[in-house]
Amino acid sequence: MKEMVDNEMKLEFLSKSSNEAFARITVAAFASQLDPTIEELADIKTAVSEAVTNCIIHAYEHKMGIVKVSAQLKGKEINIQISDNGKGIENVDMAKEPLYTTKPNLERSGMGFTIMESFMDSVEVESIVGLGTKISMSKTIKEPDEEKENEEFEFLTKE
Ligand SMILES: Nc1ncnc2c1ncn2[C@@H]1O[C@H](COP(=O)(O)OP(=O)(O)OP(=O)(O)O)[C@@H](O)[C@H]1O
Ligand SMILES: [Mg+2]
Repeated sequence: MKEMVDNEMKLEFLSKSSNEAFARITVAAFASQLDPTIEELADIKTAVSEAVTNCIIHAYEHKMGIVKVSAQLKGKEINIQISDNGKGIENVDMAKEPLYTTKPNLERSGMGFTIMESFMDSVEVESIVGLGTKISMSKTIKEPDEEKENEEFEFLTKE
């Protein structure tokens, strides 16, 4: 498995909300090896932030637990896994529905999974009630569009 990827990293941290930025920024720094655009990097940061926030808020609720984040680079693709050993999700299909939230009173809008799915190429959720949840996401960074770059260059050099 290890030989199949170009690079890999793993993080483990306590489910404190102050670690959400740590996870998002660390994954972004790792992903930057693929030369993403600012927009692609922002998409990855947002998706990681949503998944990590879910572990902190829903999986462990008022308890403290461990959140694990790992990522692999392969070619121009990044795969990210975010997992917890928290309470798990009873109905994953329902949880993924836009606006579905089990915490409507806590300023939750129920859009986390929808945001992950719109910003990443694929999002998979595995969850067992009482054992925990694992989110696997992937995104392929686009090759710079050469034709477009040339056009931009012409535009810049034109009088
Ligand atoms: N790691 C997790 N562990 C347990 N339950 C989860 C986990 N992630 C999501 N859920 C459940 O899935 C629901 C939907 O998650 P989603 O991120 O889409 O919305 P939300 O977190 O409720 O609101 P928002 O993300 O918009 O603040 C949550 O309300 C929660 O019940
Ligand atoms: Mg959420």
